[in-house]
Amino acid sequence: MTTALRTMATTLRLQLRFLLPLLAVLVLAAWVAVPILDRLQLRWFARDLDARGELVANALSDSLAEALRSGDRARLERLFGRTALDERMYAIGLCDRAGTVVGRSEAYPAALECTEARARVEAGRQRLEMFGGPLHISVHPLRGGVGELVLLHDLAFIEHRSQDSRRLLVLFLAGLGFVLALVTIGVAQLSFHGWVRGVRALLGRDGDAGNGNDIAAVLPPELEPLADDLRARLRDLEDEYRRSQGPEVAWTAERLRALLLTQLRGDQVICVSNREPLIHDRGADGGVLVKRPASGLVTAVEPVMQACSGTWIAHGSGSADRDMVDADDRVVVPGGQQDYWLRRIWLTEEEEKGYYYGFANEGLWPLCHVAHVRPVFRRSDWEAYKAVNQRFADAVVAEARSEDPIVLVQDYHLALVPAMVREKLPQATILTFWHIPWPNPESFGICPWRRELLRGMLGSTILGFHTRFHCRNFLETVDRYLEARIEHEHSIISVGRKETYVESYPISIAWPDETESAAWPAVAASREAVRARLGLPEDARIAVGVDRFDYTKGIIERINAVERLLEKHPEHLGRLAFVQVASPTRSELDEYHGFQDRVKALVARVNARFGREGWQPVHLLAEHHDHAQLIELYRAADACVVTSLHDGMNLVCKEFVAARDDERGVLVLSRFAGAARELHEALIVNPYDVEETADALHRAVTMSEPEQRERMASLRTNVAEFNVFRWAGRMLVDAGRWRLRARVEARLRRHRQR
Ligand code: G6P
Repeated sequence: MTTALRTMATTLRLQLRFLLPLLAVLVLAAWVAVPILDRLQLRWFARDLDARGELVANALSDSLAEALRSGDRARLERLFGRTALDERMYAIGLCDRAGTVVGRSEAYPAALECTEARARVEAGRQRLEMFGGPLHISVHPLRGGVGELVLLHDLAFIEHRSQDSRRLLVLFLAGLGFVLALVTIGVAQLSFHGWVRGVRALLGRDGDAGNGNDIAAVLPPELEPLADDLRARLRDLEDEYRRSQGPEVAWTAERLRALLLTQLRGDQVICVSNREPLIHDRGADGGVLVKRPASGLVTAVEPVMQACSGTWIAHGSGSADRDMVDADDRVVVPGGQQDYWLRRIWLTEEEEKGYYYGFANEGLWPLCHVAHVRPVFRRSDWEAYKAVNQRFADAVVAEARSEDPIVLVQDYHLALVPAMVREKLPQATILTFWHIPWPNPESFGICPWRRELLRGMLGSTILGFHTRFHCRNFLETVDRYLEARIEHEHSIISVGRKETYVESYPISIAWPDETESAAWPAVAASREAVRARLGLPEDARIAVGVDRFDYTKGIIERINAVERLLEKHPEHLGRLAFVQVASPTRSELDEYHGFQDRVKALVARVNARFGREGWQPVHLLAEHHDHAQLIELYRAADACVVTSLHDGMNLVCKEFVAARDDERGVLVLSRFAGAARELHEALIVNPYDVEETADALHRAVTMSEPEQRERMASLRTNVAEFNVFRWAGRMLVDAGRWRLRARVEARLRRHRQR
């Protein structure tokens, strides 16, 4: 059956449901009304005949009395004959005072005595069946009491009239039914089609963009109130579905890959970020060194790309990067389960200065981190930021093999890319993840290009933050600065006809598998190696901090806490070493430069104060460390200290937990890092509170082994379950649902247009 036929059948079915009861009501009305009408008519005519009889009696009274007195029978008969000529009059009889019939017209029944006639009238039995037809009998006294007149009227004409009115009534009801049915069908057709169109507009979103994130086009006004309810119900169903997809099934690289192949039908994945996962640097000997950058983003996204394959577009920042790419600026990144392509984007020094150092790291970075460093916004930086974002977006479009790839946009360097890609690939599924915190609307409002940035980000299909708190801040920011419709309950922002789903996806790491952890050095060996390298005594306890050398990481606060610890607990002197790895980062910026100098001076002061011959309490290792070196350090540590002043998530703490398969070691964690919302068994501190942090450090390095084991075991269960495949998986599952809906809607649209 075609859609049109199906629609017509549905319409008819609906109309019959209304019309059949209507017909039943009309038949019932006729059935009840006809006898009532008959009875009423009879009563009216009887009354009419009685009145006519009265008139006749009055008119004849004198003449009859005269004829009676004179005994003139011939006159009597003449009078009766004339009166009986009336078409409805059947017969006339005259009774004298004694009740004897003394005169009668020709048709008057011989058997009808005066007494019987009166008895009938008094009993209300005025209808007589005689001579093959119904008659009406009435008795009228004559003036002067000379006698009574008995009149018999023919009722046959009433029967005829009653039949006529019955016929008319039935015809009227049938006509009424017919007209009502026609009007109903007409109105129902019109409004049904209107409603169907409206509901389709509501569900089918007859928009022009094919990615399915348009909100309903113009709706008939009577459907507007329904629209919200309907959408809300759909969202509820989606939310329920999402909740039912809880964490019970473990997320692994295999599951993520299977998800891509099934739910996302093997669609192409294009990741785009500023930082590349692999840097090729030219060594002093002229050889090429391969470096993995110190970046939470790379730590998280690389396992996902290894699982999904696809292409990763990033800035080629290494000194030997150009030598390693093919003619299309691509290089294969091996390892993991699958190889993936790295497509490098080249930036001039000027571009890097304006876009990366300037707008991203002097503007957005301090803007989003509440670390009390003032953001700097320059127009020239903004121009460079826009131009470079366009370059990245163009590269995404050039890499796309279909019109609807899955594009993973990473971080604050590329806030404009989602809208730029959406413009060229309206059907792409764009998942943007903001790796750093999102501030409150007031803080964000100081950015002169706040609206442009928000509009750029809202080109995304899904926009992810680490925590609900950051999502809320973002929704409030959009509410404050853009004309947007926000469904807080479902976390959906609609600007114009585009929808973006805002959700929290706490990022994580890939939980090491057995092969990987089997290759790690033993914990004792790691301690020995670290102690030897740093010249520490055999019984020295080790606390570590591993960060990029960044002012948001709370490195100064941490060293202050170490100093306070040594003041409060001199028993640690000579026995506790604090090792701070600080990977060089953004050193070209004055703010970083100044900060790094301040840290170095602080370390020198604390070491001068508490150090002694052959011993120093703080070891600042301001150089790049590779993964193996970090694993060794984590395994050697009694405590790992993360004291970020503000951090989206912080993956160092999760890496430390993953490295401790011996279930030892204590994590001290800032409450201002997103990770504090998940890792409750850490010692949570306020890094601005030096006493509290020093006490937590003391507690960490003196904690009993059973307590360490208990806490660490619980932390490990948490990180293993909430791993990076779950992070990516949840986003992709949401994207899969979104795409499925978009495709079904597109199909429906095509179907309707045919
Ligand atoms: C943070 C940002 C990442 C960035 C990383 C390293 O984690 O969220 O996007 O890659 O810092 O910073 P860098 O400037 O060296 O890339």
